[in-house]
Amino acid sequence: MGHAPANPAPRHVAVIMDGNGRWARNRGLPRKAGHRAGAESVRQAVEACLERGVEFLTLYAFSSENWNRPPKEIDALMGLLEDFLRSKRREFKKQNVRLRTIGRTHLLPPSCREELAKAIQETAQNTGLTIILALSYGSREEITDATRRVALKIKNNELEPDAISPETIAAHLDTADFPDPDLLIRTSGELRLSNFLLWQLSYAEFFISTRNWPDFRKADFLEALEIYSRRQRRFGRVSAS
Ligand code: IPE
Ligand code: IPE
Ligand code: MG
Repeated sequence: MGHAPANPAPRHVAVIMDGNGRWARNRGLPRKAGHRAGAESVRQAVEACLERGVEFLTLYAFSSENWNRPPKEIDALMGLLEDFLRSKRREFKKQNVRLRTIGRTHLLPPSCREELAKAIQETAQNTGLTIILALSYGSREEITDATRRVALKIKNNELEPDAISPETIAAHLDTADFPDPDLLIRTSGELRLSNFLLWQLSYAEFFISTRNWPDFRKADFLEALEIYSRRQRRFGRVSAS
């Protein structure tokens, strides 16, 4: 009995790239080595998305709460982010990849912001995969900022309270330009959202891998897409079969 996939390829995949530190510790290496190894998994995730026609890939790279890590680790992460952006710019152009961000990126160090601005600007015209880096991102902060923007419009008589709909809220989030994720991947076996896309993940399918992010490679990403394709999404309705 052949099983036709229930779903087309997901338009949008969101990933909580977790377990870099544990990967490093298991090898007796500093945490930074785990973050560095994670960059190769990003490359392979992008490859898988390009192959399967995924349109949006959101990567949780640094959370609002990650500012509470030791300064030395934060510096290492920011340095790696800069290296990543500098080394990827040409490749993204070749791959027709567009780069965007969500999160309070104004809080990032100036050198990071410069590299980000360059990469975003240079890839703005690309029409293939959109990679969305969640940087200094927290969903509660995002919803708070959106609420403030909506409140301001009401105060300025640009909006009536009765006119506020879910679409209004969505349009004021950092993700206003993107569809909701269809699939959420989290690595390292943790079963929590960690303040990631609380609003947007309302109807996403979850795929949890016990692998740490540096060990989560293209085949694993493709497996997640395959499993997603057989999930039955009901959106509150009665099952079709
Ligand atoms: C994910 O790996 C990367 C970031 C959060 C920046 P971790 O650094 O959280 O690794 P673990 O969870 O400590 O193993
Ligand atoms: C979530 O991972 C954030 C990123 C992957 C960037 P964390 O490692 O920070 O999450 P918790 O602390 O285990 O919930
Ligand atoms: Mg972690």
